[in-house]
Amino acid sequence: MCGIIGIVSEKQVLDRLIDGLERLEYRGYDSSGVAVIAREEIFHSKSTGKLNSLKNKLKHNLFDGCVGIGHTRWATHGEPTEINAHPHLTRNVAVVHNGIIENFAEFKNELLERGTRFNSQTDTEVIAKLVEEKISKEKCQPLEAVRLTIERLRGSFALCFIFRGLEDLLIATRKGSPLALGFGDKENFVSSDAASLSLFSKKICYLEEGDVVALTKDKVNIFDTSGKIVNRDIQILNSDPVNLNKGKFKHFMEKEIFEQPQVISQVLGFYLNASKETLSLPTLPEATEFKRIILIGCGTAFYSCLVAKYWFEKLCGLPTHAELASEFRYRSPVVNKDDLLVFVSQSGETADTIGALKYAREYSKNILAIINVEQSSMARLATWVFPTKAGPEIGVASTKAFVSQLIILKILNIKFASDLSTISKEQRSNLLIGLLELPRLYAEILSKNQNIRKLCKKFTRSNSVLYLGRDILYPIALEGALKLKEISYLHAEGYASGELKHGPIALIDKSMPVVALNPSTQVFEKTLSNLEEVKARKGKIILFTDEKGKELSKDLTKSIFQLPNCSDFLVPILYTLPLQLIAYYTALEKGTDVDQPRNLAKSVTVE
Ligand code: F6R
Repeated sequence: MCGIIGIVSEKQVLDRLIDGLERLEYRGYDSSGVAVIAREEIFHSKSTGKLNSLKNKLKHNLFDGCVGIGHTRWATHGEPTEINAHPHLTRNVAVVHNGIIENFAEFKNELLERGTRFNSQTDTEVIAKLVEEKISKEKCQPLEAVRLTIERLRGSFALCFIFRGLEDLLIATRKGSPLALGFGDKENFVSSDAASLSLFSKKICYLEEGDVVALTKDKVNIFDTSGKIVNRDIQILNSDPVNLNKGKFKHFMEKEIFEQPQVISQVLGFYLNASKETLSLPTLPEATEFKRIILIGCGTAFYSCLVAKYWFEKLCGLPTHAELASEFRYRSPVVNKDDLLVFVSQSGETADTIGALKYAREYSKNILAIINVEQSSMARLATWVFPTKAGPEIGVASTKAFVSQLIILKILNIKFASDLSTISKEQRSNLLIGLLELPRLYAEILSKNQNIRKLCKKFTRSNSVLYLGRDILYPIALEGALKLKEISYLHAEGYASGELKHGPIALIDKSMPVVALNPSTQVFEKTLSNLEEVKARKGKIILFTDEKGKELSKDLTKSIFQLPNCSDFLVPILYTLPLQLIAYYTALEKGTDVDQPRNLAKSVTVE
């Protein structure tokens, strides 16, 4: 994964490299580093841990160069040590890298045989050494040295280089990993994403596969794979730089949970005209064109696909599959011309999802991307784009982005049901009007957050937690368990409650908290029976249900949290919220790093 940035300017660049890295930290935060060229020499500094530790280190350094590169890392090859942190350097070259070089071992052996020594365990150092050889032994110019080197690399990369003695040159290239350019006045920029560039420039463009770019402060030359100078479409960014302000909240995750009533209103306001009960949607396909829907995503985004599978089959009668992107691509799935493939992603940069999208594109043009980051790779690869409009999500554990994915998928579900005439006009308006209830329902639950917080003491004393749901609440049980694992490092498992008796019931004893989701819907009684089985084995049930469900579950457990009554189709969206709060308050109780949990990154750009 990792985030990279490069700036060439007539002014000093160090502070802006750090500002840019702050915006890129979501891509990895186990170590970071910068390098600049000043007085013809390469100066660099690296540090393990969060960016703050690099900032502290740099207080004692005065890097006054006007060209520089920066990196924030999520370790792939080699532990997150200072030696493995980027930039990687040789006598003449400093490089930062996002991606993985699959054939690096082959080059490393070649270089070792020629007497080259390595300091780190990374694949990136091999690139620095290969470029160095081209410059110092074969006397290549930097651009040529980079081009000849990348020709041999397999895998994915976005790379940015600076060179000793060259104070007005930055070279960057990409294949597989994204890279954007920003154009300024007597300065130019390169970065892994547009959000970080928006700090410095509103005029940007994206490099295409295999492009190599040479940037000076006055000029940007982009070369395509054949070496021809090319132009790439310039876009003017209209969004403001990402707001890194937590306001009155302790963590971004807390802020993002609590702002959900406003976010939901914002998403609905964007697409739904409440007074006329009409939708104003981006260009989308007609459901009548398809025989099947395949929804694809990773992690939390996959769970939104799983919820949507229930919705699409029920309301539209269309066969629908939900697929893990990381599995989809490699099992040679059958994709037909009349399938609609829906890719769901907050970042729009997840390598597994992009890989699955590229695979699907070989068989069908019917590619819809549901994404939150509108300037993302997936947006550029898809035929249709349906933005989730949740605003930037900074906390690594996804909360408001998941909820907005559910809302968009529900809107798409209603549109498709109308296209196929599987719902009446009246049902359609009831569903649309029903969605408008959500902000109020969310606010009501949030006002009782302290009651949920009290429940969380039970979790911190356990080694494991089970989440149970049935039917459309099964994916929500999976999502609840994932949230808890991610930020509190507690083992948790989501299970379909009907499956409990087929194995996991063996886990139940008096030390096992079981979070049960059971509103009074069609599967209420069946789930209640499953929960009785838990009770008979002394499991500690924490039940989330509605008014009627509470009345009928009085003898089951004393730990009942009553959620507002709502229409059945809103149930998965509503029952997500208490599980986000459980994860957050448990992590607080345990004192873990809520916004940047260990081993994770916001955007997973490696397969
Ligand atoms: C969990 C979480 C991850 C992401 C997954 C996909 O809280 O955030 O599981 O959902 O990595 O990321 P996107 O949605 O950016 O494709």
